[in-house]
Amino acid sequence: MKESILLISFIVLIIAGCHAKKEVTKPYAYQPTEVELTAGKTKFSDLTIDNLVKGHSIYYGACLRCHEAKNINDYGLDEFSDILNNMARKAKLTPEEKDAVLRYAVSIKLSNAKQ
Ligand code: HEC
Repeated sequence: MKESILLISFIVLIIAGCHAKKEVTKPYAYQPTEVELTAGKTKFSDLTIDNLVKGHSIYYGACLRCHEAKNINDYGLDEFSDILNNMARKAKLTPEEKDAVLRYAVSIKLSNAKQ
């Protein structure tokens, strides 16, 4: 009896462990922070953390309807901007939403370039 309780706890721990690991490795979920805000302001002087939070939530919301999250850092700035022109239409984003995604992506890229 004691053994089976131990075994069950062990299995539960393993399942919980795998689940937690999945959360952490959610692909390319770059969070907007002060670092990205500072980096992004070099390109958009009126950038706010709200722009970045909005862009992030669209990128991991509307943009995932058809495919997994793409790694922003796999694309050059101009390349990403061209792709976004196309994808914004697919995702039916408003011009403001598209701008927020662009600001978010550019800020992520600029902050990484400086690391
Ligand atoms: C209506 C479906 C749909 C939506 C919504 C959508 N995409 Fe895509 N996207 C595609 C398809 C189809 C491809 C090409 C196949 C692939 O790479 O998965 C693609 C490819 C991409 C690529 C790779 C392009 C390349 O040339 O390597 C990126 C980056 C991308 N999408 C970003 C986004 C972003 C950002 C958004 C949100 C603004 C978005 N997608 C929303 C359908 C969509």
